[in-house]
Amino acid sequence: MIETADAEPEYDDTAIRFLEALWGDGYLSPGGPEEVDRVVEGLSLEGRTVLDIGCGSGGITLHLVERHGAAHATGFDVERPVIETARQRAAARGLSDRASFVQAPPGPLPFADASFDVVFSKDALLHVPDKDALFAEIFRVLKPGGIFAASNWMISHDGEPSPEMKAYVAAEGLSFAMASPARYAQAMRRAGFADVSVRDRNPWYREVAREEFARLKGPLYATVAAAVGAAYVDKNIRTWEAMQKVLDSGEHRPTHLRGRKPVG
Ligand SMILES: C[S@@+](CC[C@H](N)C(=O)[O-])C[C@H]1O[C@@H](n2cnc3c(N)ncnc32)[C@H](O)[C@@H]1O
Repeated sequence: MIETADAEPEYDDTAIRFLEALWGDGYLSPGGPEEVDRVVEGLSLEGRTVLDIGCGSGGITLHLVERHGAAHATGFDVERPVIETARQRAAARGLSDRASFVQAPPGPLPFADASFDVVFSKDALLHVPDKDALFAEIFRVLKPGGIFAASNWMISHDGEPSPEMKAYVAAEGLSFAMASPARYAQAMRRAGFADVSVRDRNPWYREVAREEFARLKGPLYATVAAAVGAAYVDKNIRTWEAMQKVLDSGEHRPTHLRGRKPVG
């Protein structure tokens, strides 16, 4: 059997430990369960099948089952360490029958047409460069009448990023392919989505990030440094400093997205 090695993960075990120390067990993005609840506000997931794209270490996928009553949630991610962590978390919470985790390389989603009632995603789509192909795939795997609901890190415009934004993305060192809310909405409409809406979360995260920065430099520093090493925490303190500038300028634009796949 020929085994192809995975690319070096961006969210390796150290990154998982660091981000979970900051954002909570199973959370690799900010806001905890409360922000997830806001992404799905007004939707009923009771008895529905849900796909969570870029599920990371699984805390959100499990929240959609435990708190929102999804009949079944499938967490999908391109990286192995996060999927392994998510599977262990589901087993530990006795939810392996209602939550499954799938790892596959970037590209077409490894699911049949019309498989899910709801496609959810939290702060993962910024990693996907081709937004038109991404939404064509999301549309394909949704059932007619199905809903797409997501949070995602965006940039306020599609022009040349400012020097501050370039410095921030370089500090992250992750494969960010940021696009504007308008560009996302265009890709969704092109794919066939109706009732497309966007909700700016910059004013919220701008303040939350300031608190994260203060915790990282202060009360959290010693415990997180013991878990991942001081150099790793120091690097992230510099990243947060760079991020705060583009949050305050409004160029870094965390945004919620919604759309519906028409029935006919
Ligand atoms: C910031 S983390 C968010 C994880 C999780 N949604 C959460 O909020 O805790 C981004 C995730 O997107 C995943 N990712 C990167 N490229 C992806 C792709 N092309 N398709 C799906 N997921 C991807 C990463 O592996 C990572 O787990």
